[in-house]
Amino acid sequence: MEQSYDTVEASVDEDTKLGRIQLDRPDKLNAISPQLDEDVQSALEWFREKNSEADGVDVSAVVLEGNGDAFCSGADLMSFADADRPFTPRPAVWRAVREFELPVVAKIHGYCLGGGFELALACDLRVAHEDATFGFPEIDLGLLPGAGGVHYVTRVAGESAAKELAYTADKVSAERAADLGVVSHVYGDEEFEDEAEAYVEDIASKAPLGLQGLKESVNMSLDVDLDTALDHDKRVFMQLLETEDFNQGMMHFGQDTTPEFEGK
Ligand code: COA
Repeated sequence: MEQSYDTVEASVDEDTKLGRIQLDRPDKLNAISPQLDEDVQSALEWFREKNSEADGVDVSAVVLEGNGDAFCSGADLMSFADADRPFTPRPAVWRAVREFELPVVAKIHGYCLGGGFELALACDLRVAHEDATFGFPEIDLGLLPGAGGVHYVTRVAGESAAKELAYTADKVSAERAADLGVVSHVYGDEEFEDEAEAYVEDIASKAPLGLQGLKESVNMSLDVDLDTALDHDKRVFMQLLETEDFNQGMMHFGQDTTPEFEGK
């Protein structure tokens, strides 16, 4: 199933239950215009609608990638001067990625700069091609990352990595990004497509309601006190015990077979 927006292509693979958002402004290295912000949000909403209409879920994880030579080169510098629709940071959009119910993985090649880096950091996980380049160029424009990137990178990689990246505006390699803890896996050119897809498909094959509970749990662990977080985990655990997916998991436990989780 596919859905086209002005600046984004979205699709769902019925076999793997993997949703895909492809940023689609290759001529501008997928620079973020107000329209692209809106289209990413609409694609997430489409996945959400599909899941609410499904018996179980249609989408159990999402991969986010860029069409053409880059993941995303950041805010569209041309739209800063657009009198009709000027660019302003919209932290709520990347936050919607962070708060989308199921895992979102950024699959990154080429430039991943500024707002594009912020978007990748709002995702749950990042995997990268060895050619990927990361950075926050904003300070060289007299700006700061305005859509939450500073907070996301601090949470993902800690204060010193956040300050190093944001103060220097250095463009760092995928290898350095992995050393900083920003990227989970770096793949060579020949293996990138297969390995990155296998990585996200593996996540999409897990029990969706469990994934949802896990995402909530990790996200909330950074925001709430420990008692609240522990109460959440116990409550969700008890709910998951009542699911068909738990029965599936138990049926396959200890056998050389793979459960087909359905998200119910
Ligand atoms: N906004 C608008 N257009 C952008 C863009 C951006 N952030 N990044 C790239 N583009 C456009 C270029 O203007 C160019 O368009 P053109 O072919 O119509 O001239 C096209 O994308 C290709 O970019 P180009 O600069 O020719 O590629 P490059 O490989 O030489 O350099 C970058 C790539 C990413 C290093 C360079 O484009 C750049 O520095 N972009 C701005 C990055 C930035 O500061 N982002 C944060 C903004 S807050």
